[in-house]
Amino acid sequence: MSQFHEQQDLPSHLAIIMDGNGRWATNRGVPRQEGHRQGVETLRQSLKDVMRAGIKCLTVFSFSSENWNRPKAEVTFLMTLLQRFIESDLAELHGQNVRVRVLGRRQDLPPKITKLIEHAESLTADNTALQLQVAFNYGAREEIADAASRLARRAVAGTLDPASITPEVFDAELLTAGLPDPDLIIRTSGEYRVSNFLLWQSAYAEFFFTETLWPDFTVDDLDQALHAYAQRDRRFGGLSNQQERER
Ligand code: FPP
Repeated sequence: MSQFHEQQDLPSHLAIIMDGNGRWATNRGVPRQEGHRQGVETLRQSLKDVMRAGIKCLTVFSFSSENWNRPKAEVTFLMTLLQRFIESDLAELHGQNVRVRVLGRRQDLPPKITKLIEHAESLTADNTALQLQVAFNYGAREEIADAASRLARRAVAGTLDPASITPEVFDAELLTAGLPDPDLIIRTSGEYRVSNFLLWQSAYAEFFFTETLWPDFTVDDLDQALHAYAQRDRRFGGLSNQQERER
């Protein structure tokens, strides 16, 4: 994988919206579940590729708050996939020094899965090679509303002055507290939407869209995205280096 050697400017935090599992399955005339199963395989491989590329923080979107609207059998299947993913891959992830966290509303998940998540998080809490966040039952508006609600409760209790609520204070209430903002967000399957993913954190993120369906995503797609990212001129609302020189 020599292509990664030239990557100068890597994202500190990469996020991926893994989309297109259903279409991948439909194109093959197999049940949608097969697409999700293959999606997990792609995730496994991508984790290795991301680590080899030298990226230290990865967040993947695997179940949104809106996904509850899918047929019950598919929802149950996605829950089972998360459970199996943790059961079968946790030891290896831990062995590779990966810290695993699950972002999303826990209270709606089956207790069996919540327990597994807590176990995975506490086992890997001190790992440092890769920070892996699996967004599961995640919705950015819910995350923001929950943060606002916690701050409001503290204000009402008199322990927080509303005037002291800055973006930094708010940021520290989010599920991603302590993580860098995503620098690059990849969305697969030719959809050009954010779909309620990391809305606050993506204020200055670069986006990379590919037609590739998630189960077909390979190291070459990752390399293309990283290459495109390295070419971007990130100004964060300011001027580019070139513009600064011309001033
Ligand atoms: C989008 O495809 C994908 C999802 C809703 C689920 C993503 C899940 C995985 C990649 C596997 C789960 C991994 C873990 C760790 C639980 P879609 O079903 O919306 O595809 P479509 O738009 O083609 O219908």
